[in-house]
Amino acid sequence: MVEKELVIAGQDIRKRVEELGRQISAESLPNLLVVAILKGAFVFAADLVRAISIPLEVDFIRVASYGAKSCSSGEIRLSKDLETSVDGKNVLLVEDIIDTGQTIAWLKEHLRGRGAASIRTCTLIDKQERRGQEVVIDYYGFQLQKGFLVGYGLDYAEQYRHLPDIYHLKDC
Ligand code: IMP
Ligand code: MG
Repeated sequence: MVEKELVIAGQDIRKRVEELGRQISAESLPNLLVVAILKGAFVFAADLVRAISIPLEVDFIRVASYGAKSCSSGEIRLSKDLETSVDGKNVLLVEDIIDTGQTIAWLKEHLRGRGAASIRTCTLIDKQERRGQEVVIDYYGFQLQKGFLVGYGLDYAEQYRHLPDIYHLKDC
């Protein structure tokens, strides 16, 4: 068993998600399309959409990345595409954690070419130490410097996604 330490309790996540939902709703964006990035964002997105009070659509996208994540040569490709057209939509990309920034930067670029009216990003965790490129994060839940986190959708080797709290995994 790998040792883990509680970093963000489920009740604190709940409060923050409620605030994000209010903040997003206050923008009153028409044609809002919430795009959850699989797999990690599925728990966050499920809670977030229920905290948003304006009409919205939901879809899912999944990317696969190859090569070392810390290395800029890490190649990204779509492994599951959207089923909804983004044409004319105000897209809100929902991510579990932004680390180097590579995934979100790639997705924004990819969706821009498809005629979205706007693309905003919302991440539960903004992890800053390894950020390789500047990315605009419109909404974030928590900012952390570093560490490998699991729980609330975040995994290590596909484990821990179901935990209601977020933990720092040691020796990882
Ligand atoms: P980026 O392209 O480096 O920003 O990577 C973002 C993706 O890496 C996230 O969607 C996660 O799947 C994964 N990731 C980065 N840091 C962590 C972590 O601390 N725990 C679990 N997954 C992570
Ligand atoms: Mg992910």
